[in-house]
Amino acid sequence: MSAALDELSAARAELAGRSAPDILAWTWARFGARAVLASSFGAEDVALIDLASRVTPKLEVFTLDTGRLHPETYEVMQAIRERYGINLRVYAPERASVEKLESEQGLYSFRESLEQRKACCAIRKVEPLKRALAGREAWVTGLRREQSVTRAGVEVIEIDDSQNGIWKLNPLAAWTEADVWNHIRQNRVPYHALHDVGFSSIGCAPCTRAVKPYEDARAGRWWWEQPEHKECGLHARR
Ligand code: ADX
Ligand code: SF4
Repeated sequence: MSAALDELSAARAELAGRSAPDILAWTWARFGARAVLASSFGAEDVALIDLASRVTPKLEVFTLDTGRLHPETYEVMQAIRERYGINLRVYAPERASVEKLESEQGLYSFRESLEQRKACCAIRKVEPLKRALAGREAWVTGLRREQSVTRAGVEVIEIDDSQNGIWKLNPLAAWTEADVWNHIRQNRVPYHALHDVGFSSIGCAPCTRAVKPYEDARAGRWWWEQPEHKECGLHARR
């Protein structure tokens, strides 16, 4: 572990102050096809795919299709797939787990309690993520520090203890929401239609709503929960 920690501090020193394209180029040079980009097709992720397509044309992209996504998510997924010719892998939850969950708990069990919400996320997101990352050495996400209290400590490069210690790259960690939208506009990147009607963060349809201009970016995710609980388990921090 201490060798990995040494490498982590060396990489942090090397990447300090570097731009998102530089970080993506470094990731490709260091990990090649052993790295993979995670996309929910929200604004950060389409910007990230656009950037990656310039510096790492062969970077593989995966998405977790929870079965409860907005129709608009599939539209932008397809638009991005066509525009960038990306190799997109789609991971669905285990059928038996979903059948059991819905048969025994109903279709909206996640509204009942924090535990039940996390149980649904565990089946629809966390387990498929494990499969998506199996055999990988690094994953790339669109996490930004500014997004919420749970993300204020996000680093550009991390060791992901919740995923068997693989590397996690967050090239947009220091980006603001304005940076994301400037990139999308300047490069005419296809983006999720719900952003135009007040959605700042995109998740599953029953657990995401539009936000008011004065609310923070993730206020529309699991809006009935406290801000410090608003994580689904993909980005568990130990
Ligand atoms: S979430 O974990 O609570 O859903 P958010 O929607 O802000 O968080 O996404 C943060 C990052 O997690 C995204 O930029 C993306 O890298 C990854 N991610 C989130 N949802 C998915 C998904 N459905 N499929 C693949 N990656 C995802
Ligand atoms: Fe289930 Fe909602 Fe989590 Fe999606 S966001 S996996 S519907 S609890």
